[in-house]
Amino acid sequence: MAHWYPLIVLLHLSCAIVFVGAVCFEVLVLESFHRQFDHALMEKIEAAVMARVRTFMPVIVVLLFLSGFALFDIRCNGFSCIQPQFGWGWLLLLKVLLAFGVLGVFISAIRAGMRGGMDPCRFRYTHRIVLSLMIGIVILAKLMFYV
Ligand code: HEM
Repeated sequence: MAHWYPLIVLLHLSCAIVFVGAVCFEVLVLESFHRQFDHALMEKIEAAVMARVRTFMPVIVVLLFLSGFALFDIRCNGFSCIQPQFGWGWLLLLKVLLAFGVLGVFISAIRAGMRGGMDPCRFRYTHRIVLSLMIGIVILAKLMFYV
């Protein structure tokens, strides 16, 4: 399993880039369109974006979490990396908890989108919350190697 490790990290990182990149696009690019286009048009654009994202993002998220679990298992050997004193394992655990927060928000957004309950206001706040959590995850993912 150990020689698969770099490939699993590569898969995990690639999925994270697609997931975080899509959210960055929605917050930094799509949100700015609200100043140029009216509410009805924005609703259509955002519905089209959600429909497109729903075609591939669930697969990316499943791969991201499966590769994450595999990395956790190899790195942490069960939960033995979590020692009584604060350190690497605790930062990893915090990162995983934030990742589950992202998963919860993502699933509820997908379900709201399918039921037609995703208005532009909810769309905007969902993406801002997810982006803030993701910034935390990426910082923790790198910080944990420096404690
Ligand atoms: C939104 C979800 C997630 C994002 C955006 C994310 C992002 C990242 C990033 C950017 C790295 C650094 C990779 C590198 O540069 O080497 C990383 C590493 C890692 N992630 Fe995740 N991750 C997520 C979910 C998870 C989950 C659910 C788990 C475990 C259950 C997990 C476990 C790990 C582990 C163990 C590492 C260390 C890998 C190494 O040895 O470098 N991740 N993650």
